[in-house]
Amino acid sequence: LSSPLDTNYFGREHSGIKHLFLRKYIELAAFATMGGGFRSFNYVDGFAGPWSVSDDDEYSDSSFHQAIQTILSVKKNLEARTGRTCRARFCLCERNSQRADKLKRFAAEQLQIEIYVFEGAFEDRLEDIDRVCADGFTFTFIDPTGFNLGSVKIAKFLARQNGDYLLNFMSEHINRYPSVESVNKAFGRLLADTDWKSNFERLPHYLKNEEKILFLLKNRLKELGAGRFMPDFEIMNPRRNRLQMRLVLGTSHPLGVSYFRDVQSQVSNIQTEVRDQIRNPGQDTLFIMPSLNGVGSDRAIEAAKLSILKQLNFRSPQDFSELIAPVLEDAAIRETHLKDVLCQLQQSGNVSFALVGRQRKPKKGTLIHILR
Ligand SMILES: C[S@@+](CC[C@H](N)C(=O)[O-])C[C@H]1O[C@@H](n2cnc3c(N)ncnc32)[C@H](O)[C@@H]1O
Repeated sequence: LSSPLDTNYFGREHSGIKHLFLRKYIELAAFATMGGGFRSFNYVDGFAGPWSVSDDDEYSDSSFHQAIQTILSVKKNLEARTGRTCRARFCLCERNSQRADKLKRFAAEQLQIEIYVFEGAFEDRLEDIDRVCADGFTFTFIDPTGFNLGSVKIAKFLARQNGDYLLNFMSEHINRYPSVESVNKAFGRLLADTDWKSNFERLPHYLKNEEKILFLLKNRLKELGAGRFMPDFEIMNPRRNRLQMRLVLGTSHPLGVSYFRDVQSQVSNIQTEVRDQIRNPGQDTLFIMPSLNGVGSDRAIEAAKLSILKQLNFRSPQDFSELIAPVLEDAAIRETHLKDVLCQLQQSGNVSFALVGRQRKPKKGTLIHILR
């Protein structure tokens, strides 16, 4: 029975899931942007490695290699279809000098590809990267090993770019610290706020540390202009029932949130399959049990209801299309679930909307009113 992940990921399947998500999101973003008028696509890997790879020759199980292959394949496909040339630039940054040397050797071998290698801390190379990505759509991948990074500089860089970013939020790492005091300084740097403790203490006690830090980080990034919407996806430890990390998207485009949930719905099924196979090796998975927290799960539907009522309490009526991004940011659902949830809320007397002709569900142009 074959695993949906390459054998290179044996023992670190969570990295395989991370790379799968990265590839699938980049593919959608590259098609939409290069196919929709952007002349170039810039990929920035701020913490590139190569790190813990099994393929030491070609780095096929690294984030940068997979991103490069994905973007080049979209570029080729679009060029063949439209006859227009698209440009792809790759900026790889790494602090560790031995790894940076490996990146330089790798880049020197890729004669046809525009790769720039930056040695040093990402926080210190942002202006140089800015100069390379002066035009086009920029996708940034932020995948540090821990949480000790200077996010104010990074957030300002992200705010300057026309594009999206994916941040690997190290949940397991953060939960491992028994007291937040022990990492006071590092959290202050991460949250770009020396006075973070008072906001932290105001959050509900039932939340885990990583949930509180994630909440504060998202708010801070938004305040600094690094994205309007920030949905996230949980990656589990493959062998334990424990959260390992979260992939957080930062986007200012409503479509980015829809793409994120589309990718999540595919990748979370694969994550469930991979974890099942580890638990029951050799047994065929006849059907995949939808994960408890998967896209469209009961928990996600409940979150969506709360989010819809929150948006409409703020302003009512709202067009169906205006509700999509904010609700999909809060709840792991897709647009099709949103239509069904609105119908349920109408039946329970919480909202109202008019359907015309043979229309069964709300769609773009349908005005949703809250009933008080
Ligand atoms: C988790 S690994 C990256 C893995 C890679 N993104 C992948 O998925 O294949 C993090 C890398 O970031 C590097 N690093 C740590 N702090 C850094 C910093 N401030 N700036 C740039 N690189 C850093 C580490 O040396 C390590 O190689």
